[in-house]
Amino acid sequence: MPLLSTGELLDRNRAVLAFNVIQLEHAEAILIGAERAKRPVVLQLSENAVKYHGALAPTSLAVLRLAADAPVDAAVHLDHAENEDLIAEAVALGFTSVMFDAATLPYAENLERTAVVARSAQARGVWVEAELGAIGGKGGAHTPGVRTDVDEAVDFAGRTGIDGLAVAVGSSHAMTSRSASLDFDLIAALAGAVSVPLVLHGSSGVSDDDLVRAVSLGIRKVNISTHINGVFSRSVRATLAAHPDLVDPRKYLGPARDAVADEVERLLLLI
Ligand code: G3H
Ligand code: ZN
Repeated sequence: MPLLSTGELLDRNRAVLAFNVIQLEHAEAILIGAERAKRPVVLQLSENAVKYHGALAPTSLAVLRLAADAPVDAAVHLDHAENEDLIAEAVALGFTSVMFDAATLPYAENLERTAVVARSAQARGVWVEAELGAIGGKGGAHTPGVRTDVDEAVDFAGRTGIDGLAVAVGSSHAMTSRSASLDFDLIAALAGAVSVPLVLHGSSGVSDDDLVRAVSLGIRKVNISTHINGVFSRSVRATLAAHPDLVDPRKYLGPARDAVADEVERLLLLI
């Protein structure tokens, strides 16, 4: 199927789940899970994953091809990019969606730089997400305790022209227990006031029930990374413990890919 933008997925669906890709097996697992669940999905590569690989193109060209060949609606998104050049490269490579993350910059600078990125990526048909954390930009959106201010979010979305907004509503990145407590009143207030779809980051720390509730209150894109990495790594650990003489990576990466596909399918069917 041709790749869609995250915006096109959201036009057709109440909400979408977005899973982070680090290596090929992640992308394969996410698409297998989506195919089984018959649900759309966003595959995303973060700037940190690009730094890990040392370049954007090699991994992302594989992911773009896998997603385009999959029998499900899919978007490929650049996640948490702080660098405008990386965004331009992603757009040129065919990413259908990007996130410009300037949330730790002062508010005026976040606004100004985000507006420039939005104009140029949208001119190429790309959906643009940005992030707003602490009021005035004093803290990133996923620092524990930080909350997005409703009036500031309305101003920011209106003046930048972005397509989606990552908000700070109680989740934080890289939690390995699903024990975050979301501020549901704030989610409802933001969804009622902000004109663009809201994005929940750090969703690995959020329970199934709370993810469903957050979506029912207006979260439209749910980003999940650490949770599926946990599933992947626990599988690898178990396989290697059971077979300490294994040397062929396929023998432990394959079961880990299967485990992630199962969990992606389960999560997609929640929403
Ligand atoms: O942008 C990616 C996400 O916010 C993932 O966060 O690793 O806590 O699920 P997580
Ligand atoms: Zn995030």
